[in-house]
Amino acid sequence: MTTTVSAFEETQAREAKHVLQTYRRTPISFVRGQGVRLFDSEGREYFDLLSGIGVASLGHAHPGVARAIAEQATELLHTSNLFFHPLQGQVAERLAALSGMPRTFFCNSGAEAVEACLKFVRRYWYTRGEPRAEFIALEESFHGRTFGALSVTSDEHYRAPFEPLLPSVKFVPNDDPAALVAAVTAKTAAIIAEPVQGEGGVRPLTPAFAAAINEACAKTGALFIADEVQCGLGRTGEPFHFATLGLKPHVVSLGKALGAGVPIGAALVSEEVAKTISYGDHGTTYGGNLLACRAALTFLTELVEGGVMDNVKRVSGVFSERLHVLARKHPQLIKEVRGLGLIWGVDLTRDASAVVPAGIANGVIVNRTADTVVRLLPPLNITEAEANEAIDRLDRALGTMGAA
Ligand SMILES: Cc1ncc(COP(=O)(O)O)c(C=O)c1O
Repeated sequence: MTTTVSAFEETQAREAKHVLQTYRRTPISFVRGQGVRLFDSEGREYFDLLSGIGVASLGHAHPGVARAIAEQATELLHTSNLFFHPLQGQVAERLAALSGMPRTFFCNSGAEAVEACLKFVRRYWYTRGEPRAEFIALEESFHGRTFGALSVTSDEHYRAPFEPLLPSVKFVPNDDPAALVAAVTAKTAAIIAEPVQGEGGVRPLTPAFAAAINEACAKTGALFIADEVQCGLGRTGEPFHFATLGLKPHVVSLGKALGAGVPIGAALVSEEVAKTISYGDHGTTYGGNLLACRAALTFLTELVEGGVMDNVKRVSGVFSERLHVLARKHPQLIKEVRGLGLIWGVDLTRDASAVVPAGIANGVIVNRTADTVVRLLPPLNITEAEANEAIDRLDRALGTMGAA
């Protein structure tokens, strides 16, 4: 008797043997994408409401991105930061225009961007001859898995196996402005916060909390790090959510959407902090190479001149309205809907794990975060019709889950 092993089973078996098992993967293998659609190894089609956790910001197989990176590959991919190339300055100039932060340090991921921000803050205080070590971070924060970024990430599950982490980090509740003001002192180097907490369950900071950050910084001289890795670069319908909240960061971390699928991270730096940084203070071999910068330029051009940010504002209404309708339709299952732009969390009355396979069975990709939250981070160029179709599918998926 012969048994046939599918291509997918082969993929699984090879990984099980040779890939370090740090991810509990959903048993599905995507082989192709087109816009908001993904296709698996069996040829089935899905609407992608996750976009690779906010990375495929222009959807899959975007012709402009494909053309730009293919062209770049035939010219020059990488030369290192020992030399100039024309593209880093162009990306930095565009980011400065969007953010008001005059300078950029390029790296390769969100965690690296956060790491750079933490180091730049320490360097600022060191240069001023007043070394401050302490960071204030928020409960339900997520900033990445490297040691510095993990030190300001609140989730015990991620932290415990790797302790001791940076000792000088205090966490405050994300909805208690008075507690924040009380925690920040003349010893605080910086406050770090996501203007919309992503992994923590899609929790936008309140205006009152943002005002408390500004007040605490003004009172103590502490710097502010805005982590816009997940919520930045148009996802809220504005370039950055810190600006919408009236926050005035000294450094900003970026990643995910910037390369539209090509790995790139960035730390945006104010002139005040930039003045304290010297040659050799920080660096990375790959950071801001020609390939990554070409992808970022393509993304930023689409975002602004290509109307993608306007699209977010438009389609945001579909998500807001339809998700609130879903909450009324499934009151025993849905506790709360939170979000804005194209970052949404549907908080359930129970663990959200079962929504992922239910979504797959109904042709829609979503993700569970913070135990009970179904997170949606669709491509920024999803159309209203696609959004409606995807939410119809999510509705059907929720309908199969039964009451809590
Ligand atoms: C707000 C925030 N900061 C940092 C990171 C870390 O980014 P990366 O996974 O690219 O290292 C993430 C990733 O989810 C994030 O959401």
